[in-house]
Amino acid sequence: MKKNSTVANTDLMQNITSLAKRRGFIFAGSDIYGGLANSWDYGPLGVELKNNIKQEWWRRFVQQRADVVGIDAALLMNPKVWEASGHLASFTDPLVECKTCHARLREDQLIDRTCLNCKGKDFTPTRQFNMMLKTYLGPSEESANTVYFRPETAQAMFVNFKNILDTNRPKLPFGIAQQGKAFRNEITPGNFVFRMREFEQMEIEYFVKEREWEKYFEHWLGEMKQWLKDLGVSEKKLHYVDIPDGERAHYSKRTVDIEYEYPFGQKELYGLAYRGDFDLKNHMQASGQDLRYTDTETQEKFLPHVIEPTWGVDRSVLVAMLEAYHEEDAPTAEEGESAKRVVMKFPAWLAPVKVAILPLSKKEELSKVAKPIFETLSKQFVCEYDETQSIGKRYRRQDEIGTPLCITVDFETLQDNAVTIRDRDTMKQERILVKDLAGEATKRLHV
Ligand code: GAP
Repeated sequence: MKKNSTVANTDLMQNITSLAKRRGFIFAGSDIYGGLANSWDYGPLGVELKNNIKQEWWRRFVQQRADVVGIDAALLMNPKVWEASGHLASFTDPLVECKTCHARLREDQLIDRTCLNCKGKDFTPTRQFNMMLKTYLGPSEESANTVYFRPETAQAMFVNFKNILDTNRPKLPFGIAQQGKAFRNEITPGNFVFRMREFEQMEIEYFVKEREWEKYFEHWLGEMKQWLKDLGVSEKKLHYVDIPDGERAHYSKRTVDIEYEYPFGQKELYGLAYRGDFDLKNHMQASGQDLRYTDTETQEKFLPHVIEPTWGVDRSVLVAMLEAYHEEDAPTAEEGESAKRVVMKFPAWLAPVKVAILPLSKKEELSKVAKPIFETLSKQFVCEYDETQSIGKRYRRQDEIGTPLCITVDFETLQDNAVTIRDRDTMKQERILVKDLAGEATKRLHV
């Protein structure tokens, strides 16, 4: 059996990108106009996959925890937010231009100070390039109307800290969570959805007493490890990197980058940072509002410290796809079909389609039985109904999109009220009574 580990790294990235396009996971943005560099649109299967990630995260970290509440804030915030947070001054990457080919590159990504484009060695002096994306509100493009698309969702949690204190009256430790878009004018976007200028984050600002920060740092590290396991990511591809002094973001007192061995190198997947009271202190000073928390027992007023676990949604999608991709020798191949079967072995909860209902032929006698099965099961699971092409080709397609269960309705069904249920990974087929299908699917999908 050929697993993804044996697929050459460069091929793996190409395979994922072309499968994503061919099967409707992810398309190049503005495709019919020749695209917009490094923008991507999620197609029908991609949006299901992405929503599964976001919904599971929300269930796990917001709804199933008594100590975390969610918000959904505006993308555009008062520019004073970004002044106070330090982003206007410090959210920069070191930019150099190659004097030979004029490529603009990140100095910290150069290897041996050599141009990645033309191998030139002569660069302009380094300048700090601010990654905030600007736009203008209102009818004139004067600087008074300049606003910024948020480069992280985090600041909205700090800005709403007082609202949450006043309305929810939470006790420390507690968290505020948010999912949503963030924008960065990246100098070198690329590697499919790994680095984009428009992307999605899932973040939690977890407020603690200063003396307890280490305990909760460890707690969130544990939660992130468990999340990665459930996402189907193999532990041996993960690296937990403690970022040394001088290399951390301007606000952080300790950061662990969770890095993954992508086909294009070991790079960040998620991050966990101890932000101290940096953000609340700055916002209190800049806004003039009292953002202190009052301990109900001692009446002491103080600024809580913050642990921030942060997840990139698009990098989660990318890693889930890289991990799920398998090529195996196919037991059978029809004419024109490859001798290898491509299977996306997503964990069942993650699979964009859970059950495919496949009547053996388009004949009405079969659709009369198959359609009600689709109608019943699709109330509980995302299902697909497909009656085109040969059954072998349909199985191949479902394997390629990672559907855990295929149900085939055939002419015997009309006699025995039973269907064939096929497991994606083992390809084992069993006969099941139609009346038992919902229960059987629930059992097999662990939902
Ligand atoms: N609030 C902290 C923060 O924003 P970050 O490490 O800059 O920290 C958090 O970003 C996560 O967002 C990253 O771990 C990554 O998953 C994702 N991310 C950051 N920049 C990205 C980009 N240009 N494209 C896609 N995902 C990105």
